[in-house]
Amino acid sequence: MADTKLKRPKVARTRAALARHVGSFREAGESIALVPTMGALHSGHVALVRRARRQADRVIVSIFVNPTQFAPHEDLARYPRTWRADLATLSREDVDLVWAPSVEEMYPPQFATRIAPEGPAVAGLEDKFRPHFFGGVATVVAKLFVQCQPDWAVFGQKDYQQLKVVTRMARDLDLPLRIIGAPTMREKDGLALSSRNAYLSPRERAAAPALYRALSTCAAAIRKGAPLARALNAARKSVRQAGFKLDYLEARNADTLAPVASRRDGPIRLLVAARIGGTRLIDNLQV
Ligand code: PAJ
Repeated sequence: MADTKLKRPKVARTRAALARHVGSFREAGESIALVPTMGALHSGHVALVRRARRQADRVIVSIFVNPTQFAPHEDLARYPRTWRADLATLSREDVDLVWAPSVEEMYPPQFATRIAPEGPAVAGLEDKFRPHFFGGVATVVAKLFVQCQPDWAVFGQKDYQQLKVVTRMARDLDLPLRIIGAPTMREKDGLALSSRNAYLSPRERAAAPALYRALSTCAAAIRKGAPLARALNAARKSVRQAGFKLDYLEARNADTLAPVASRRDGPIRLLVAARIGGTRLIDNLQV
C-alpha cells in the first residue's frame, strides 16, 4: 500500500533522453549530484544516495554493469542484476533520475578510446590483480560525468583505491565537479556490504567478517605502537586461518597509496583483498 505513494524516479535509457532531463535541471538552475553504481543495490549504495540527496537539488543514480572493467575470466555474466528491486529502493530514496543505458548505448560500434589512469591506479593493489580494472572504471566514470554533468559525484570509501583514482582523474582532467567519499557501510558483524556478498555460501558468509576483524585488530596494534611489519603479518595470518586466499593486505599512505614503513610516513590506510571459495572481497580501514 505505502508503495503507491512513492514517487518513481524517471528512467533514462538513451543519451538523448538523459540530455533532455539534465538540460531541464540545468535550465532551472538546479544543482546535480550523481551516484554511479552497477545496481544490485544495498544499504551501502543507499547511504551514498542519501549523501547525494543532502548535497544537491537533483540526484541522478546510474545503473550500468560496465563490461570494460571486468576481465574475461571475471564475474560479468553472473554479476547480480536486480532491476525491479533497485528501482523500488530508489523510489523510497526520492531519486530524481535513473540513468540506465544499454551496453550499446554506452559503447556504440567503433568505440575506441580508453583513459589510462596512473598514480593511485598503479599503486600495486587492485591493479596488480585486476590490471584492466581502473582503465575501465576511469573511462566509464568520465563518460558518466560528461553525460550527467553533475556538480558532485559520490563514491564509497569501500572501494578506496577507486575513490582515489576517480578523484585524481577529476583533478587531472579539470572535470568541473567535486568528488565526495562516503564511509563504508557494514553488517553488524563488520562485513562490508557488497553486491558480491550474495555469492557467499552460509559457511563462507560466516567466515567473511574475519577480514574486517583482522583490519581492526591490526589498526589498533599500530595505534598502540606495534611495528608495522609485525602487525601486518599477524593480520595476514588471521585472514588465511579464516579460510581466505590472500591477494594482499597492506599498509599504505592514505592520501597517495604509496607504501609506508612506519607511522611517520603519514596517515595510514590498511587495505585488503582476499578470495573465499569463488568470491573475491575487498575492504580497508584508516589507522
Ligand atoms: P558498485 O560496486 O555498484 O559500487 C557503487 C558505489 O557504491 C561505489 O562508489 C562503491 O564504493 C559504493 N559502495 C559499495 N559498497 C559500499 C559500502 N558497503 N559502503 C559504502 N559504499 C559502498 O564501484 C562500482 O560499482 C563501479 O566500479 C562504478 C564506480 C559504478 C563504475 O562502473
